[in-house]
Amino acid sequence: MTNNIETLTVALGVRSYPIHIGHNVLTDTQKILKPHISGGRVAILTDETVAKLHLQTLQKGLGDREVVTIILKPGENTKSFAVLQNVLDKLLQANFSREDTLIAFGGGVIGDLTGFVASVLKRGCQFIQIPTTLLAQVDSSVGGKTAINTPAGKNLVGSFYQPKCVLIDTNILSTLDPRQMRAGYAEVLKYALINDKDFFGWLEENASKLLRLDQAALRTAILSSCTAKANIVKRDEYEHGERALLNLGHSFAHALEAKAGYDGTLLHGEAVSAGLLMAFEYSQDLGCCSGQDVKRVRQHLSANGMPVLCDLATPVRNDPDALFAFMGRDKKNTGDDMKLILARGIGRAFVEPSVGHASILGYLKKVCSSKALAK
Ligand code: GLY
Repeated sequence: MTNNIETLTVALGVRSYPIHIGHNVLTDTQKILKPHISGGRVAILTDETVAKLHLQTLQKGLGDREVVTIILKPGENTKSFAVLQNVLDKLLQANFSREDTLIAFGGGVIGDLTGFVASVLKRGCQFIQIPTTLLAQVDSSVGGKTAINTPAGKNLVGSFYQPKCVLIDTNILSTLDPRQMRAGYAEVLKYALINDKDFFGWLEENASKLLRLDQAALRTAILSSCTAKANIVKRDEYEHGERALLNLGHSFAHALEAKAGYDGTLLHGEAVSAGLLMAFEYSQDLGCCSGQDVKRVRQHLSANGMPVLCDLATPVRNDPDALFAFMGRDKKNTGDDMKLILARGIGRAFVEPSVGHASILGYLKKVCSSKALAK
């Protein structure tokens, strides 16, 4: 195996799997993936953008085995019932079996959709994640969350279904546009804000290098992020407790995305960037978090060109009642209780099982007011 590859394990007993991280590993896929692809056929699910740039390299890397390729439209709209049905029909028409392997080759949208397809096709076939965006490399490809979106909200239909392997090529990010890099960086920052203040300090020093695609900085950030995620997932695979921390900023983010309408104008990571600051601000309002830490988070986002609420399009940010309604439909909630991830400071996130409805609506009204948004 190429010696620049580092391997982490997501330790889940019989469902354990490796995350291989390296530079230019896509050209060596055959060798790396061999232990994870049993004799059968392979279907690559990807989108038009990734296909144009990298599909040939992956196909070449897979050698002369039979490969079915399904190329989908880029964007959140692909995570829909209609596309799910279409992909399942194609695979069933090709008589895909449980011995065959799906490869998710793309960002979070392709990874989430492919994982969901794999979990329901003939009651479950194996799949491999080859994430091509920073966001997918540090978050969505690891941990087995699969989903599609519905008009009621994001990721509300899905399953927990682990891949057989995750293969991360840091070099593939060289073709990613800066907007997508910043969107992915929000998820890197999330790990630091949850439970790793030292990592936050490192990011304050190195985020700009990483966003400029410095390979050493990227490798460190991806390794730290995947290690953090693997550690949480192995302790709480099905999100009965601690895994909910990985949703820091996400209840706000999912509401913003639902309001934006999944039309590509607001990327998931952009919403997470705004949502992280909202989670810290709201924690400060509740008296849990110091203003100093909130300021440090705000400054870090601003120094790295990361979007916050007032940078988003007016219709997305000026309707607190609509945002509140979307937050009420979040998967984490039970009954009337609205569960939220809050912070006692940088690196000190915690799960608040029941946030007062009036208090959260009050916060949203405050930050969505024309005065706040004019700042
Ligand atoms: N992205 C959050 C999780 O995987 O739990």
